[in-house]
Amino acid sequence: MLKFSFQNTTQILFGEGQIASVSKQIPSDAKVLVTYGGGSIKSNGVYDQVAAALSKHTWFEFSGIEPNPSYETLMKAQDIIKQNDIDFILAVGGGSVVDGSKFIAAAALFEGDDPWDIVSKQARIRKALPLACVLTLPATGSESNTGAVVTRDGNKLPFHSPLVRPIFAVLDPAVTLSLSERQIGNGVVDAFVHTMEQYLTYSVNAKVQDRFAEGLLLTLIEEGPKALSPETSKDLEVRGNIMWAATMALNGLIGAGVPQDWATHMIGHELTGTHGIDHARTLSIVLPGVMKVCKEAKRGKLLQYAERIWNVSDGDEDSRINRAIELTEQFFDTMQVPTRLSQVDLGAADIDLLIEKLTQHGMLKLGEHGDVTPDVSREILTAAL
Ligand code: NZQ
Ligand code: ZN
Repeated sequence: MLKFSFQNTTQILFGEGQIASVSKQIPSDAKVLVTYGGGSIKSNGVYDQVAAALSKHTWFEFSGIEPNPSYETLMKAQDIIKQNDIDFILAVGGGSVVDGSKFIAAAALFEGDDPWDIVSKQARIRKALPLACVLTLPATGSESNTGAVVTRDGNKLPFHSPLVRPIFAVLDPAVTLSLSERQIGNGVVDAFVHTMEQYLTYSVNAKVQDRFAEGLLLTLIEEGPKALSPETSKDLEVRGNIMWAATMALNGLIGAGVPQDWATHMIGHELTGTHGIDHARTLSIVLPGVMKVCKEAKRGKLLQYAERIWNVSDGDEDSRINRAIELTEQFFDTMQVPTRLSQVDLGAADIDLLIEKLTQHGMLKLGEHGDVTPDVSREILTAAL
């Protein structure tokens, strides 16, 4: 196992009806900005539950944070914050709303000249407004981690700071019942790929992290399809297991003390930045390519994955690995996400621009060994045609 330091300070408030507890979690004298997206919280009753919980607080709202939140939209919140002396942000929504609110919280107290430096130059964040969230879409893990992804002019880039980790996160599985099948599939696959980015590397004999990761993968494979099947889609136990798995997949626990990959995500961000493809759908296209092209570097873990996740233990090593990749693709098919560029109307001619963007963004040495150069990324995208 590698050296590590692990801390996750987000208080998780899990279960039905937990939105009401927001009233006790936020200081009574706080001036709260409730941030949200395009309005799903108005039609599914979540807005009303939040409003009821904040009935004794002073609060304002900022809406319109779009999927893959843009710098331009997020900067619009700054006036409301200044005019009303906001000192607490409550993000209510999916990963985009939580991520966008993290940027809003950091930009509000940024000491440099240009808040975009937080993302483009990875400028150090010294202060941020306190932030908490009510999560409505299990997928990103943003509800209890330090990361966020913001887009400007087709450039989709991450930043990290412990100061933007949510203080608390409400996880009420009932709020996920209004998700479309597309968003359910996307969420399960995003959480699955987060786990793979921290698991499918090389062994450092980290048994706890490996088995936690395998538990999450098995849970997502078991419960994900149930959330899409008419007989079980409304089952709150199914929804709750998916929700907790997605949080655990990217809250720092399974990634502590192990090598991490993230090539799939960085290549995927270019597909979203350039072509607007949903985040998870870029991952389901890129991951099988990574598994194929980086097969030698990942051989040991691929064999462990084949055996422990898919019960594939017969045949020679290559055929076991190939079978595991095939089964991963089948799982993605079941979750109704694409596994090939052709399924999102892209072809060989589109690869040059993606590689150019990766290069521009400094994504020159990706993967757990830093050996996924732009040439290797090209091979990965070619494998995904
Ligand atoms: O905007 P509203 O109206 O709320 O609708 C949203 C949005 O259209 C809708 N939705 C959310 N909850 C709903 C709902 N619709 C009905 N019922 C509900 N309960 O779903 C749509 C997609 O929402 P979005 O927040 O964009 O999805 P997701 O949670 O998948 O977040 C994706 C973003 O997170 C980033 C991605 O890059 C992308 O920008 N990520 C953040 C990470 C992190 N902070 O650690 C890691 C991830 O790898 C990822 O990169
Ligand atoms: Zn992701």
